[in-house]
Amino acid sequence: MDHFLYRDGALYAEDVPVAEIAAAVGSPCYIYSTATLLRHFRLFDEALEGTEHLVCYAMKAASNQAILKTLAQAGAGMDVVSQGEYLRAKAAGVPGDKIVFSGVGKTAEEIRTALTGGIRQFNVESEPEMVVISRVAQELGKTAPITIRVNPDVDAKTHAKIATGKSENKFGIPISRAKEVYALAASLPGLEVVGIDCHIGSQLTELEPFKLAYEKVAELTEALRAEGHNIRRLDLGGGLGIPYARSNEAPPLPVEYGQLIKDTLGHLGCEIEIEPGRLIAGNAGIMLSKVIYVKSGEDRDFLIVDSAMNDLIRPAMYEAHHDIVAVKEPAPGVEQRPYDIVGPVCETGDTFAKARNMPPLEAGDLIAFRSAGAYGAVMASEYNSRPLIPEVLVNGNQFAVIRPRPSFDEMINRDTMPEWL
Ligand code: LLP
Repeated sequence: MDHFLYRDGALYAEDVPVAEIAAAVGSPCYIYSTATLLRHFRLFDEALEGTEHLVCYAMKAASNQAILKTLAQAGAGMDVVSQGEYLRAKAAGVPGDKIVFSGVGKTAEEIRTALTGGIRQFNVESEPEMVVISRVAQELGKTAPITIRVNPDVDAKTHAKIATGKSENKFGIPISRAKEVYALAASLPGLEVVGIDCHIGSQLTELEPFKLAYEKVAELTEALRAEGHNIRRLDLGGGLGIPYARSNEAPPLPVEYGQLIKDTLGHLGCEIEIEPGRLIAGNAGIMLSKVIYVKSGEDRDFLIVDSAMNDLIRPAMYEAHHDIVAVKEPAPGVEQRPYDIVGPVCETGDTFAKARNMPPLEAGDLIAFRSAGAYGAVMASEYNSRPLIPEVLVNGNQFAVIRPRPSFDEMINRDTMPEWL
């Protein structure tokens, strides 16, 4: 459920007509709903009620400071994967002891920043990385809390580019070598092993892969405890999928996911951490766009819109489906017709949808790409020298620009000229 609904014949974001936002901010832009963000965070929080837990929002999904602060004020921790994300989380008021640091290539500088500013734990991805964390911690006279990310070798049954839990993926250490690597961790100075970490992929639409992975984590917890490791925290990653096509997709609900966690791991008495990103932000955001031209092709019509693959890359990159709706509610029974919906970028890959049924549309009409809140604005680029599009946050009947549209001069003047030119 989200808060982008038709009312009085027009699409609203909470209590604000999105056309009003377009008039004030221009098109295209991203629009987020505070109510949806908070609702999704709370669904996870409630799903783990009765178990000691922390929901660490995977801020890679949408990392605008206003989004982070909204979630931080509701009690969310954060999962970060770079120094930039760490500093964003801190700037949004997240205390260090609610920040977990994931990612396969943490540099010594990133580790230093997190250890100095405070960190709940590093999710270690390899032995060489563990050695560096140990060294930096010693240099700073600190102890680094760590979990080790194990790769359980399960098929997440998702798009290959976002599956991470198979042995051929670059993530984590093979679960079969876990004992050895935990023994190394225990022998290195400056480290404190606190638990196990596991993340098998993103946009999972079934519970089964989670179940297989968590059963392996449960088994490993007992095996490591038997070797004397104090495993008291389990970071179970993110990955729960969302419905992108409302008509025919119904992935498991957070409450079912929470129950699975309790069923597979509850008996261990560990503190549970989860790192959802997409489910919190995905359906909390839309990308608003305007039709520039309707172009009749030989065998199809094209809607050429003012947003493009540089603004929302998911369709080009993952063949991802996003529902696209007209901002003016179609009259009941109006005949839909198929359009290819494309951006102005000079690549055929700049196609958002093929033969998508839409009500008849004209130049100047507004449309909205649904489910664009996660991995939308954060993956945008200025390809074709198209400035990044603004972000807007709605809260009830108010809205605010949370990232302004840069001017062309701002974009151009970021470049600097060598003295010989
Ligand atoms: N934790 C770790 C260690 C991750 O690598 C990720 C996502 C998450 C948590 C959050 O997963 P989520 O709950 O959002 O599924 N750009 C792609 C998705 C990449 C996901 C990368 N890692 C897309 O647009 O579909």
